[in-house]
Amino acid sequence: MANRAAVILAAGQGTRMRSALPKVLHPVGGRPMIDWSIALAQSVGCERILVVCSPAGEAVQAHVANLLGTDAITIQDPPLGTGHAVLTAKNALSDFDGELVVLCGDVPLIQSETVEALFAEVCNGAAVGVLGFEAADPGAYGRLITDAEGNLDAIVEAKEASPEQLAVSFCNSGVIAARSKTMFDLLSQVSNDNIKGEYYLTDIVGLARAAGSPCRTVSCDEADVIGINTRIQLAEAEAAFQAKKRAAILASGVTMTAPETVFFNHDTEIENDVTIEPNVVFGPGVTVRSGARIRAFSHLEGADVGPDSSVGPFVRLRPGAVLEANVKIGNFVEVKNTRMGEGAQASHLAYLGDGEIGAGANIGAGTIFCNYDGFLKYKTTVGKGAFIGSNSALVAPVTIGDGAFVGSGSVITKDVEPNALAVGRGRQMQKAGWATAFRDKMAAVKAARKKG
Ligand code: UD1
Ligand code: CA
Repeated sequence: MANRAAVILAAGQGTRMRSALPKVLHPVGGRPMIDWSIALAQSVGCERILVVCSPAGEAVQAHVANLLGTDAITIQDPPLGTGHAVLTAKNALSDFDGELVVLCGDVPLIQSETVEALFAEVCNGAAVGVLGFEAADPGAYGRLITDAEGNLDAIVEAKEASPEQLAVSFCNSGVIAARSKTMFDLLSQVSNDNIKGEYYLTDIVGLARAAGSPCRTVSCDEADVIGINTRIQLAEAEAAFQAKKRAAILASGVTMTAPETVFFNHDTEIENDVTIEPNVVFGPGVTVRSGARIRAFSHLEGADVGPDSSVGPFVRLRPGAVLEANVKIGNFVEVKNTRMGEGAQASHLAYLGDGEIGAGANIGAGTIFCNYDGFLKYKTTVGKGAFIGSNSALVAPVTIGDGAFVGSGSVITKDVEPNALAVGRGRQMQKAGWATAFRDKMAAVKAARKKG
């Protein structure tokens, strides 16, 4: 594969988010925006990735350093425009010769095929390739001025555009590719002689054309290039992500009766022939295997749901919940860091934390794994085919042997042997006729008080 590099622009302040969290660290589909851009660059084979940060953006720098190392950071100080921002990567890329794409850290939903198509234009002779889209409301976007053959003549920023140019609805997404040498040659000629007094990356198109080099565009859906400046746009991008993910999951053979009420994370994996009922939320790290059913109003994160299992309604699966085949989890059960063997069941009202539950075990309503003493967490093991009676507290660390029974309402603090019955509760006693005598006595007391 050809040498490829990406420069990701992320030096903006993002003030319109009104947030202590830097804009590019806000998540879409559960993943920080900047991670989308980095993943995109990686998915198209960019072996060099540089992220342009502001000196004040320490949190962004730390985040990028954590993902890619400190070599991936370039600092733009002060921010003098998008062209100037790309130039901050020039030194770091001085030994690089290949195709370079500029991405924006606040445009998370671009598809890798689109960037591939842009690189293809550059490989096929375009000096500059620009990703454009038909804007419903072109507003402040740069306009792409094309000739009759569809070649790109110039990008004109809205503030600099004539009324005729403003009427153009084909707009610049901000994603621009060129060979690295061409990119930096052209950028060295860009001036800041314009209304904003900035060095515009977009000016490289006019400069390339003036030198007689062809420029081309690739176009994509507007929903793929939503740029995020405000929380409203953040919500729009989230909606666009969800719509796309739902469509992809439906197309892969999953049934959803009300897909618009189901919310996915970017990494959610659902196998075919799964059914997802309305109002289900998937946090990060969930896989659901073929034939499983996720019933209404359930919340899942960090969980693996086995084939033909049934989860919900009203279930919470937390990180480390691993359900093997044919497991049944019913309403108001919370499972955390617990593996449940094939065919195990917890049909109602339980907390199962830090446990191991054997195949075919039955966990009664109201069972609690008491896994925490305020300082440390401990493990509960329930053997294969064991039966835990309703309203039992299993005080960890504790092991219930295979096939054992725990009587309802027990507090179990000691291990139970396989196939034994353990009962840990007050013994029931009975006094014949006590209730009748009690009623007669109390009625007499009450009558005496009324009189007096
Ligand atoms: C830019 C494009 C415009 C395009 C639009 C798409 C230019 C001159 N204009 O306009 O044609 O339609 O994006 O959204 O490129 N940034 C820096 N350093 C800077 C300036 C910007 O890192 O000095 C970063 C910003 O953080 C942002 C991106 O570059 O991620 C785009 O900058 P922005 O100021 O939003 O550009 P626009 O004026 O919207
Ligand atoms: Ca912008």
